Amino acid sequence: GGHGPGPVHPLTGPIDLSRIDLSEIEGRREVREGLTRFLMPYKFAIDEVMTKLRILQEEFTQTGEYNPIEHVSSRLKDPDSIIEKMQRRGVPLETERVRETITDIAGLRVVCAFVSDVYRVFELLTAHDDVTVFQVKDYIAKPKENGYRSLHLLLEVPVFLSSGPVRTIVEVQIRTIAMDFWASLEHKIYYKYDREVPAELLEGLRDAADQACRLDSTMEWLHIAIRGSDRDTLV
Ligand code: GTP
Ligand code: MG
Repeated sequence: GGHGPGPVHPLTGPIDLSRIDLSEIEGRREVREGLTRFLMPYKFAIDEVMTKLRILQEEFTQTGEYNPIEHVSSRLKDPDSIIEKMQRRGVPLETERVRETITDIAGLRVVCAFVSDVYRVFELLTAHDDVTVFQVKDYIAKPKENGYRSLHLLLEVPVFLSSGPVRTIVEVQIRTIAMDFWASLEHKIYYKYDREVPAELLEGLRDAADQACRLDSTMEWLHIAIRGSDRDTLV
């Protein structure tokens, strides 16, 4: 009793925003500000993983070695989406609850040309000493019911603040160009129909996913074939 637990770190200390009235402009502003501070380490974590990926890309470019990364994008979930998701899940708006409830606050997407590159990027990224693999969901080996394919990772990376390292979760989605093409269209359709996609479109999407999968196999085969002949001419 009596004495508090000591100073609360302005970025990582727990904040209870659940009692603030979101229907008031002032309240909404206060919650957004609290969340913006809470989001900072996640932003830094994105920067760190982005840097790792950029270094790999640049290294491969410099050495003339094959570069398995086509492109990388990132997004930090905004305070309003966090409020919405917490309300939808029915979880009180306390930063510690947000931390455990929403694992895609920091999101990165790596797009590769070939399926083998997806696993290569996975190995390269997780080989780093400061990266801990928290979860792997392989929707390539086991596609989702709708046809969705991608490799999903939850990585834990240390963000070094003045107070010391803070372990922060980053969601990394690694997929091929074909998988990415499919997922972006599926995402549009899903939201256009407010998550209730008509059966014939679902079937069309399944069909497109199968075609994308076959395209990936053919491209992989061609890729192996020309890499093999490259090696022959070099030797
Ligand atoms: P959320 O769906 O984000 O609540 O988390 P989860 O626990 O279901 O994780 P999962 O790994 O299934 O999905 C995380 C993210 O992957 C989503 O937020 C999307 O960005 C992407 N994703 C998952 N499934 C699909 C899908 O069927 N279609 C598309 N377009 N994207 C998907
Ligand atoms: Mg999901």
